[in-house]
Amino acid sequence: MTRKPLIAGNWKMHKLLADAVSTALELKSLVANVTHCDIAIAPVFVHLKTLAERLEGSNIKIAAQNCSTETKHSAHTGEVAADMLKDIGVSYVIIGHSERRQYYCETDEMVNKKIKAALAAGLKAIVCVGETLSEREEGKLFEVVGRQLKFGLEGLTKNDMERIIIAYEPVWAIGTGKTATPDQAQQMHEFIRKNLAETHGIETAESTKILYGGSVKPENIKDLMEEPDIDGALVGGASLEASSFAQIINYR
Ligand code: PGA
Repeated sequence: MTRKPLIAGNWKMHKLLADAVSTALELKSLVANVTHCDIAIAPVFVHLKTLAERLEGSNIKIAAQNCSTETKHSAHTGEVAADMLKDIGVSYVIIGHSERRQYYCETDEMVNKKIKAALAAGLKAIVCVGETLSEREEGKLFEVVGRQLKFGLEGLTKNDMERIIIAYEPVWAIGTGKTATPDQAQQMHEFIRKNLAETHGIETAESTKILYGGSVKPENIKDLMEEPDIDGALVGGASLEASSFAQIINYR
């Protein structure tokens, strides 16, 4: 089974509009010939439509960083429904990022509802899982990630799973400059794939992309991508500059 890699840039709460547009256009020209992997960038909500328009027809897809648990257009001040994202040209949505779990109290149950909302709208979901440093030190890393997968992906059919991408992001590696070693990442990716095989069958496990995230840089991407179960990366800090993100995309 060959899985086409996905390299996605998570811009988090960075950039004003002019900077977002110029970075996106610079990236567009730097990666124009890339076919070996899929590419996405995730700007803030208010820049999504502009970037979707400016990148239309290119090989860079647009991802949102979040969506509502609710699908019905209704009284939910401050929320954005998944079909509103799809409507303006968004292809992917990042769900359950550790910063949302930590700072905005997102639970596995909410993650599950958001995934279902995203899929119902025709989006692909990049579902983030990962343990904290203390959970790793206490030897609970597999238990924690296993639980996030179990409850996060609960009730999803084999069909649904075709539009799910998992991102393993150890919380201790995010924004810290401390990347998981390729071995550490591979060990967890293998666990995730086995877990998917048990819950959704071998075929789903073999075809699901599992990205690594956490201090991915031009210097460490190649070694990570050589691992058999690492199918791409979710990149934060190093995706903010077009040149460093392009180097990551061109890891080969
Ligand atoms: P980082 O962030 O690359 O800055 O560590 C990754 C992420 O949070 O998705």
